[in-house]
Amino acid sequence: MKLPDGPQIPPMLQMTQWVADPVGYMETNARRYGDVFTARFRSLGAIVFFSHPQAVQEILTADARSFDAGRGNGILMSLVGDNSLLLLDGERHKRERKLLMPPFHGDRMQTYGKLIVEITRQVMGQWQAGETFKVRSATQEITMRVILNAVFGLSEGERYERVRRLMGKVLDSTGSPLTSSLLFFPMLQQDWGAWSPWGRFVRLRAQLDELLYAEIRERRENLDPSRTDILTLLLSARDEQGEPMTDSQLRDELVTLLLAGHETTATALAWALYWSQKLPEVRQKLRKELDELGENPDPMAIVKLPYLNAVCQETLRIYPVALITFPRIVNSSFEVMGQKFGAETWLAPCIYLTHHREDLYPEPHQFKPERFLERQYSPYEFYPFGGGNRRCLGAALAMYELKLATAMIVSEFDLRLPDDRPIKPVRRGVTLAPSNRLQLSMCGRRMPGETPRKVLLAQ
Ligand code: HEM
Repeated sequence: MKLPDGPQIPPMLQMTQWVADPVGYMETNARRYGDVFTARFRSLGAIVFFSHPQAVQEILTADARSFDAGRGNGILMSLVGDNSLLLLDGERHKRERKLLMPPFHGDRMQTYGKLIVEITRQVMGQWQAGETFKVRSATQEITMRVILNAVFGLSEGERYERVRRLMGKVLDSTGSPLTSSLLFFPMLQQDWGAWSPWGRFVRLRAQLDELLYAEIRERRENLDPSRTDILTLLLSARDEQGEPMTDSQLRDELVTLLLAGHETTATALAWALYWSQKLPEVRQKLRKELDELGENPDPMAIVKLPYLNAVCQETLRIYPVALITFPRIVNSSFEVMGQKFGAETWLAPCIYLTHHREDLYPEPHQFKPERFLERQYSPYEFYPFGGGNRRCLGAALAMYELKLATAMIVSEFDLRLPDDRPIKPVRRGVTLAPSNRLQLSMCGRRMPGETPRKVLLAQ
C-alpha cells in the first residue's frame, strides 16, 4: 500500500534532522505536506505522522487489538529494560498496566499534596537572594524526590540519595541534544571504556541496578504489607499462576516509573516557571488568583484554580514534552480518514503539530493561557498525555505536581530571568525540553499580596 508523501531526502539525513532539530523537521514537513506525511528514519523505518484531530481520534480510540505500540519503543530498552510497561504489548501490557494504575489514580493524589509542597519549598529554599540556578536541574530535583517517595516510600537515607544522584547522571548521559544520538543510532552504542559516552552510560546503569536490586532483596525479605508505596504493591502482586514478579521484572518497572515519572514533569515545570517569569501579566494573574485563597491554602483548592489550570495546559500545549505519542504499529490493516494502511505500518499522532494548528490555536507560537478559559478542547485537539490504551499512566500525578509546584514557587518566591533572550526547546533523549541556558535568579521570599520593589525594578 502506498504511504502518504513525505520528504525524499535519505533516511540517514532525516534521522539526523529529527534528532538534532525535531521541531524544525516537523514544522518544515507540515508546511510542505499538510495534515499527514511519511517520515523515513534510518534504524526506525517509515513513520506516518498525523496532526488532524479526526485522524488523532480515529487512532487513539481504536480497539487496543488494532495496534502494537510497545515494540515500537525499542529505543528505550537500554534504559528501562525489556520487562518495562513501555515495551510490553497485548495481554501482558493490559495486565501490568492494571497493576500499576491504582497508585496514580486521582484520589491517591491527596496523599502526595503535602509532600510536593514540602519538597518544593526545600529545594527552592537552597538558593540565597542573588544566586542564579539552572531551572531544569532544580525542577528535576523536585520531581525526582516526589517520585522516589511514591515508588519507595522513602525520602531520606544513603541508598535513597545514591539512587537519586545516579538516576540523574544516567539521564544526563543521554540527555543533551548531542548525547541523545546514543539512543537513536544503535551503531554509537559501543563500550570503549569508562570515558566513552556509551561506556559511561553502561557503568552508571550498572551502579544504579546494584542499588535497586539491593533494595528489592531487602524489601522482599522484610515485606510489610501495610506500606502504601509502589514497590510494596508490586512485591505483593501475583500473576494468574500465583507467581510473584521476578527481580528483573521489578527492576524494569521501577526504573520505568522513576524515569517516566520525573523527567517529563521536570521539563513541564521548568517551562511553566519560564513563562511565568517571561510574561509579567501571567505571573500577576497567577498571584492574584492564589492570594485570594488566603494563607496556607489546601492543595486540593489550589489545583482547582481556573487560571492556574489554563497556564499549565498552555505550557503543555506550546512545547509538549512528548512531540509524538508512541507510534502505533498496525496489526492487520487500519483506515485513517479514508486511507487504508497495511500490517506493520507505523502511525504516529503528532502532538506538537496538532497543538500548533492555526485553525485550533490562533497565533500558535504565542503563550496565551486565556485560550483554555475561552474554549473547551477535545482530547484529540489537546493531548499532551497521548490517549487510548497507552495514555500516560501518570497524567493525574503530573498535572497535580505541575500545578502545585508552579503555584508554590510563583506565590512564595521572587525570581527573575537573568537575560531576556527567548529560550528555545531542544531535544532531551526522546523528549523536548528547554535548553540548558534557562536560568533563574533568586531575588527573595515573597509574602502573599506583596509586589516587591526588587521585582518591579528588574522588569
Ligand atoms: C508532564 C508530564 C508527563 C507527560 C507530558 C507525559 C506524556 C506521556 C505520553 C505522551 C505518553 C504516551 C501516550 C500514548 O502514546 O498514547 C506517556 C506514557 C506513559 N507515561 Fe507519561 N507523561 C508525563 C508524566 C508521567 C508521570 C508522572 C508518570 C508516572 C509514573 C508517567 C508514566 C507513564 C507511563 C508508565 C507511560 C506508558 C503507558 C503505557 O505504555 O501503557 N508519565 N506519557
